[in-house]
Amino acid sequence: MVATHHVEPLISSEEIQKKIQELARKIVVDYQNQEIVLVGILHGGATLIADLGRALWELGKHDVFKDYIGISSYESETESSGNIRITKELKNPIKDRHVLIVEDIVDTGRSLKQAIETLSSQGAKSIKTLALLSKKERREIQVPIEYVGFEIPNKFVVGYDLDYDEMYRTMPGIGVVVFD
Ligand code: IMP
Ligand code: MG
Repeated sequence: MVATHHVEPLISSEEIQKKIQELARKIVVDYQNQEIVLVGILHGGATLIADLGRALWELGKHDVFKDYIGISSYESETESSGNIRITKELKNPIKDRHVLIVEDIVDTGRSLKQAIETLSSQGAKSIKTLALLSKKERREIQVPIEYVGFEIPNKFVVGYDLDYDEMYRTMPGIGVVVFD
């Protein structure tokens, strides 16, 4: 059941795009003469990986590949167990390749930690991480994030592929869910 709520704007679509440009410029410098495999964590993050890939292309960085990994946390009726499972494997091997994990939002840090462990066990040459949003206050596991878009307060946010019960994924900006 979706509770009565409304959404208040937090980050505009223009601000998101500007931030992606900024992160892309850093990535171009950091990965000179190195191919990158962008690995998106499903769900969410699909819009981000698309926009980031295009921003890199427009800066002349064309040796960029995309792949996806599915990660889901087991949740019982009463509690979130914190157990994580892989729901989709990569399409192509990443052995000896430079991987940049692209995550929409890092909350407790559990999903990102699982992604890092899974990909390093597959022999990646290097692994860095990018998160558009980070809720530092909520962190239970300390994970390295090389590229952070915005640090945000401990609020539930939607838009730009983040959902509340599958709603708001197509909203271009990011907003906070406020329960009425
Ligand atoms: P973590 O494993 O706790 O870091 O959770 C990360 C995942 O939880 C994200 O990739 C999102 O799918 C989801 N998530 C965390 N916070 C929010 C939020 O504020 N809005 C929507 N989804 C969220
Ligand atoms: Mg995600």
